[in-house]
Amino acid sequence: MESLPSHEMSRLEAVAGPDNPLADLVRRRADGEPLQYIEGTAAFGPLELLVDERVLVPRPETEGLFDIASRMVRHPEVIVDLCTGSGALALALKHAFPGSSVFATDISPEAIEVATYNRFRSGLAIYPAEGDLFDPLPASIFGEVDLIVANPPYVADADLASLPTDVQREPHVALVSGPTGLEVIERIGATAVEWLRPGGVIVCEIGETQGDSASRAFRDLPAVVRQDLNGRDRYVVAVKP
Ligand SMILES: C[S@@+](CC[C@H](N)C(=O)[O-])C[C@H]1O[C@@H](n2cnc3c(N)ncnc32)[C@H](O)[C@@H]1O
Repeated sequence: MESLPSHEMSRLEAVAGPDNPLADLVRRRADGEPLQYIEGTAAFGPLELLVDERVLVPRPETEGLFDIASRMVRHPEVIVDLCTGSGALALALKHAFPGSSVFATDISPEAIEVATYNRFRSGLAIYPAEGDLFDPLPASIFGEVDLIVANPPYVADADLASLPTDVQREPHVALVSGPTGLEVIERIGATAVEWLRPGGVIVCEIGETQGDSASRAFRDLPAVVRQDLNGRDRYVVAVKP
């Protein structure tokens, strides 16, 4: 995002006064801070979530993931949201399937703080847990999971600099996966089959150029690529036989 030209800022300050909170908000936005961080909240489906610089701002594409996933299961008992961030997917799924147990993991302690805050704010009793992908999950659900959802980081190191300024203000760990961008997706793809029950479903968000390589990463599952509303490859979907 372009910075607000200095003459525009001066004009705003002349109208609002230099110490006016509105001028400060406009300045923060002009400096590239995401609007939702300034507002402090973001909508996700029926929910309003706290978001700040500790977590990714939930995206419409991820609401698309929620739509696909929630249509593929009937009465899921055990749901896992890997890379939960603000808790958006986990909380929306708990809202849709109140009888389910929903586990939400994230490697970032700051993200788990936000997901936990949103869990209490919403009254939706999910289980946020800090750690790497499947590591924090209880052994009791191994091989018993009805639905795994994940919106992992999938940007390659070298591509970060070309993202819009406001996206670059979001946490590095939420965006960047490593040299190829596929590192976290590949690790999810290698392990998901073990945690799913037969008939269990996984839906994983991917970058729009990653369809072929991401679906190959789910090598022990019959994975297919699904598109978003704009026709771009955005999800890998698989049902465990
Ligand atoms: C793209 S954000 C998605 C956040 C949220 N699910 C959403 O859709 O708004 C990715 C999240 O994955 C987390 N993450 C990155 N590497 C991880 C790992 N190895 N294990 C668990 N979480 C990880 C980041 O901290 C970040 O919160």
